[in-house]
Amino acid sequence: MTEDVADLDRTRLPAHVGIIMDGNGRWAAARGLPRNAGHEQGESALFDTVEGALQLGLRWLTVYAFSTENWKRPPSEVAFLLNFNRDLLLRRADELDERQVRVRFIGRRRRPVPRRLVHMIEATEARTARHRRLTLQVAFNYGGRAELVDAARRVATDVAEGRLRPDKVSEKSIQARLYEPEAPDVDLLVRTSGEQRLSNFMLFQAAYAELVFTNVLWPEFRRGELFAAVAEFQRRQRRFGTV
Ligand code: IPE
Ligand code: IPE
Ligand code: MG
Repeated sequence: MTEDVADLDRTRLPAHVGIIMDGNGRWAAARGLPRNAGHEQGESALFDTVEGALQLGLRWLTVYAFSTENWKRPPSEVAFLLNFNRDLLLRRADELDERQVRVRFIGRRRRPVPRRLVHMIEATEARTARHRRLTLQVAFNYGGRAELVDAARRVATDVAEGRLRPDKVSEKSIQARLYEPEAPDVDLLVRTSGEQRLSNFMLFQAAYAELVFTNVLWPEFRRGELFAAVAEFQRRQRRFGTV
């Protein structure tokens, strides 16, 4: 199902779209290819989606690239994904910069994430930091639970050092200590490949997200599918607990 960008209501866009890019391995297996070929093919899906987000005027897009659980995959696949993400930044930094996309990574940057990947992440973030047209967040070595643990540690430190009173700890205190406190809540969460679960993605931010699941495997996802998901979002009635 694809939708035309012209049919969408630009005044009711989701403030933040999250995408769980899933199905690379199954795309490859269906073609008798190694799983890594599916990851490679996902690059064109990602960049067409970014183009679609720009065309539509989205301001925040977060894509799930590597979870804290993905370290459990075979070492050869993990190594491939680490190199692939670094190479992708090398190849695409100019393009993202030209299109005024601010790139941010969310997730833990310490070991076992290789130093050279962290350097590349920092360089790309610094180079695109001034842009505001679209913020593309790449969730890498990201886990929603890990993010909440990291936020809780910072709350604990601030309490211990007298900057925050325990009875003043609120949702805002947690929000302010997430990896990217300025990001608005995820309004629309899309997962490809037919799986219907969160897999530890944006647990705090997606509390009231509209969920859209599509059977399209990530390597075949294109901006038309993004537009279709936004159209679906615009048909939903959101209530946020009220009547
Ligand atoms: C998503 O595709 C990419 C990552 C999780 C890195 P998968 O690799 O999970 O593909 P499937 O789910 O095995 O088909
Ligand atoms: C979630 O996909 C993580 C990413 C897309 C990066 P997985 O394929 O790892 O999730 P599960 O294992 O099916 O829940
Ligand atoms: Mg998967």
